[in-house]
Amino acid sequence: MIEELVPPHGGRLVNRVLTGEERAAALARAITLPRIRLDRWSASDLEMIAVGAFSPLEGFLTRADYNAVVEEMHLAGGLAWSLPVTLAVDTEEAAGLVEGREAALVGAEQEILGLLLLEEKYRYDREREARLVFRTLDPAHPGVARLLRRGEVLLGGKIWLLNRPQCPFPAYRLDPAETRAVFRQRGWSRVVGFQTRNPVHRAHEYIQKCALEMADGLLLHPLVGETKEDDLPATVRVRSYEVLLNEYYPRDRVVLAIFPAAMRYAGPREAVFHALVRKNYGCSHFIVGRDHAGIGGYYGPDEAQRVFGAFSPGELGVTPLFFETAFYCRRCGSMVSGKTCPHDGAVRLVLSGTEVREMLRRGAIPPPEFTRPEVAAVLIEGLKEYRMRRCPITQPGNSRGLQSREQTQA
Ligand code: ADX
Repeated sequence: MIEELVPPHGGRLVNRVLTGEERAAALARAITLPRIRLDRWSASDLEMIAVGAFSPLEGFLTRADYNAVVEEMHLAGGLAWSLPVTLAVDTEEAAGLVEGREAALVGAEQEILGLLLLEEKYRYDREREARLVFRTLDPAHPGVARLLRRGEVLLGGKIWLLNRPQCPFPAYRLDPAETRAVFRQRGWSRVVGFQTRNPVHRAHEYIQKCALEMADGLLLHPLVGETKEDDLPATVRVRSYEVLLNEYYPRDRVVLAIFPAAMRYAGPREAVFHALVRKNYGCSHFIVGRDHAGIGGYYGPDEAQRVFGAFSPGELGVTPLFFETAFYCRRCGSMVSGKTCPHDGAVRLVLSGTEVREMLRRGAIPPPEFTRPEVAAVLIEGLKEYRMRRCPITQPGNSRGLQSREQTQA
């Protein structure tokens, strides 16, 4: 007997995508409504809510849910939820919006993306949110920086999606209902989700394959929404995933799909959020390695694992798989971790993500024990093309702009 897939969070996959006549009517209405312009991050939140990735959320958080999430990592109704998903506007814009009425949600070009059924507008304390969610007030933290830049009023209420934001990787855009259908078709029920905002290096590959030893299949689910400026662009990364999977993974054990959400860099809280969201995509298990969703030294290497202890057994409904720092040991001649290798630091190959990004940007190939050569080649080539597209004029007199961007990226 084939076992069932893990149920979505809250028991039901949310679907707030309008189609057909309902969509046509909503679009006609939207033209007459006050407009709220979404940045790329909020547009992706809208899409994620609508397609059920953020189930059980049906819209942007209202006050009671917001407070419960920020203070207790639960929704007001008691379901676990670790990150606030909110829509912020400034006081002036909020004044023109009436509770109980609809507003149109539009993108950068004023194109209609969806509708908000405004239930509640409320003020919030950004510093409190930064302290509790990011555990720092440091404006150098990209999540805190964004939070402090946001408007002073939050708009809560259910949404409808009418037009999807553009996706540069349509072949890999699988909604939760679609990944679930693929898993069912393959007869999988023990599915391991893997989040990344990076290329897949050997340590990532190692922990994925350890997990694959006990699972039916792997969902390689790279985040392709907004990331900080010096992370490698998703367009460059996606090609590297294709190459790696072709060369080193059994085709019938892996599904590659994109995760169009924005990266919050909220460390522990984001690890729980990532796990719950991947459950909605059909993953029964989720990998949490070293400093998951962390940045700089804001969170300790195992904090994103320890936070799972704050939830009662079974309440998350997805099993985290914890991995210690993995690295290549020259003496063992393989990828290992402190749990499996007795040797000391001298024979261990440890490179930081920043060091590797720097090498790739210089066109230098990282050691094969760190990155598969095929992956490195694609990344170096992709970065070159990416830079050419963003800054095509590189004659000597004009190279300063490029150079200074390079320096900030390093
Ligand atoms: S993240 O921000 O998306 O978490 P990254 O893409 O680096 O960053 O990591 C993806 C996953 O791999 C996370 O679960 C992370 O903890 C884990 N990970 C990254 N590098 C290592 C490593 N060397 N050892 C163990 N786990 C790692």
